[in-house]
Amino acid sequence: MFQEIRHQVAGQGQRIARTADCLATLDVLSALAEIAHERDYCRPVIDDGDRIFILEGRHPVIEAVMLSERFVPNDVLLDTDENQLLIITGPNMAGKSTFMRQVALMTLMAQMGSFIPATEAHIGIVDRIFTRVGASDNLARGQSTFMVEMMETAAILRNATRKSLIVLDEIGRGTSTFDGVSIAWAVAEFLHDTESCAAKTLFATHYHEMTELAVTRKRIKNYTVAVREWNDQIIFLRKITEGGASHSYGIQVARLAGLPLEVIERAREILRNLEKGEYGEGGVPRIAKGGKRSDAPVSPQLQLFDETEDPLRKRLEAITIATLTPLEALNILDQLKRMV
Ligand SMILES: Nc1ncnc2c1ncn2[C@@H]1O[C@H](COP(=O)(O)OP(=O)(O)OP(=O)(O)O)[C@@H](O)[C@H]1O
Ligand SMILES: [Mg+2]
Repeated sequence: MFQEIRHQVAGQGQRIARTADCLATLDVLSALAEIAHERDYCRPVIDDGDRIFILEGRHPVIEAVMLSERFVPNDVLLDTDENQLLIITGPNMAGKSTFMRQVALMTLMAQMGSFIPATEAHIGIVDRIFTRVGASDNLARGQSTFMVEMMETAAILRNATRKSLIVLDEIGRGTSTFDGVSIAWAVAEFLHDTESCAAKTLFATHYHEMTELAVTRKRIKNYTVAVREWNDQIIFLRKITEGGASHSYGIQVARLAGLPLEVIERAREILRNLEKGEYGEGGVPRIAKGGKRSDAPVSPQLQLFDETEDPLRKRLEAITIATLTPLEALNILDQLKRMV
């Protein structure tokens, strides 16, 4: 009996396989249709052009799992004339990574024939989507975190074409500040200047110096994620707007994450020292246009602590409190006040 059944099934093998194939296609299409209907997706216009324009786009996964906060939609315009490379700066936790990934995901969804989470969209077909996101390593194969980051970046620069879409999330962060900013800067310049791989690119970074690139490069534009400061707190507005950011608010975010208060306080103190060292006279950053430090002395590492001889400190150290009369103390206090 078994053999007979097997024989009959084998005779209909092709029909069964075809039916399964049709059912699978139907399953995928009806699932996409159901989601599109339930979540209010739109039908993108797709063509062979070079423009990606999305109005009020959302992240298909995050908007579905987020219960506590309303997902804020964002627009994007990428093309090969004026908006080829968008530098996205903004505080930690603001929504840079989410924004870049949603653009890549919507492009992918559109090209596979799905509706997408936006109110209007125009997608010029891309040949590949390259991403460099997150931090991973491959220690077993002799590759460190930074090595993996650089290998992936190298592969992108070698293989991207004018038709590609590239998402770069904070490249260069895996090494020291100056090495990192130099690499990030050079990669952005390369993607803009090299005709053959001038791909549409989204580039998130905390190196605020990079916003300078938009001044000298025609197709580079700056975008930032809006936040409001309120009583030493930050309120995330999640809206992508034109312009650059000047702060990362990393310490505030670290506080939100529950780092011990003494660590936060100490971090603030170190930040103040660093900022004093990193900025030249009149608050001008030492990293000027072109990525070069504009004035000497060039030290390979930022100065963590200000060690110059401070006259105020010297005067304070010279005081022996035990032998002071109250009147002398007042006089010294007056002197010190004058010195400041
Ligand atoms: N448009 C949005 N609307 C509502 N919530 C959002 C939106 N974008 C991001 N978020 C929320 O903010 C969180 C942080 O976003 P994201 O990781 O994109 O920030 P980031 O700017 O990349 O931060 P970092 O600089 O630390 O990498 C997300 O996990 C998400 O919950
Ligand atoms: Mg991020």
